[in-house]
Amino acid sequence: MGAMMKEALLHMLTEQEGEFVSGQEISNRLDCSRTAIWKHISELRKSGYTIEAVQKRGYRLITSPDAVTAEEVSLYTGNGTFGKKITYRESVNSTQEIAHALARDGEVEGSIVLADEQTGGRGRLGRAWQSPKGTGVWMSLILKPNIPLQKAPQLTLLIAVAVSKAIEKVSGIEAAIKWPNDILISGKKSAGILTELQAEADSIHSVIVGIGINVNQERNHFSDEIAEIATSLAIEGGQTYKRAEVVGVLLQEIETLYQQYLENGFGMIKLLWESRAFSLGKRITARSITGAITGYAKGITEEGVLLLEDDHGVVHSIYSADIEF
Ligand code: BTN
Repeated sequence: MGAMMKEALLHMLTEQEGEFVSGQEISNRLDCSRTAIWKHISELRKSGYTIEAVQKRGYRLITSPDAVTAEEVSLYTGNGTFGKKITYRESVNSTQEIAHALARDGEVEGSIVLADEQTGGRGRLGRAWQSPKGTGVWMSLILKPNIPLQKAPQLTLLIAVAVSKAIEKVSGIEAAIKWPNDILISGKKSAGILTELQAEADSIHSVIVGIGINVNQERNHFSDEIAEIATSLAIEGGQTYKRAEVVGVLLQEIETLYQQYLENGFGMIKLLWESRAFSLGKRITARSITGAITGYAKGITEEGVLLLEDDHGVVHSIYSADIEF
């Protein structure tokens, strides 16, 4: 009885919502021995599940851990195909590295890599991304869209919409988007997206979408340099959230938007993005290696490029920059 069986057992216990499931029923449905069931109950307990075992009545799930293991996340992924294949690691340098390697080896679209901790988490523009153990969603998703290379930035905006929607669904907290892909709660950063490409000439082989969501950090988890500008769902909502649920809801949001995007194009995503945008209509400074431009954020183009009107009325197209208010 392998990992699949353990997952199936967890699903049975979860479906019963705190009611007993008899050993007989488990053994019938999963076609396995009582000894094998017991072994997997022990393993689940070791992973942090509290399971009551009572003679003649069977097993009952009492509590589950806040884990992002394949078995826990699979309880929340629904009927879609995203997240069907999950690679989980307790500690990694960066989930991006693992996802890149999987994609090079021909991994299917919708596969994800999750880690409980990243020791070398990567952010945009060469920055580090703090990913302390057991606190956030550190995930990389493999996409294989059949779109031209120059349209890839649209995917980042699509993912930003999905992250903002997922946060709102799980926590009820309003999450705005700061161009291109920061997710803000009360003006502080709660999630970020790093989109990396594997491409040949002008065709996309894979898109590796790295998503970091600060879920259960307390204030003291953040280092001094980001303490003022970062936040988590727990800090904002005053309670903790199940990270596996955040992942499951997020994957469903991404899959729905992605299907719409592939079928109907970027129009609908652009509207959704604009309705959640924090920076539009505001006076901002876009800072990049080539310098800084201050002006009004007018909107985004079909390609997802930010349009910034300076004080002389000149409209600049911003492809990559840091935005300050
Ligand atoms: C940013 O806002 O700068 C982007 C942050 C992206 C962080 C995520 S966490 C999962 C994935 N693995 C990484 O090393 N980075 C991304």
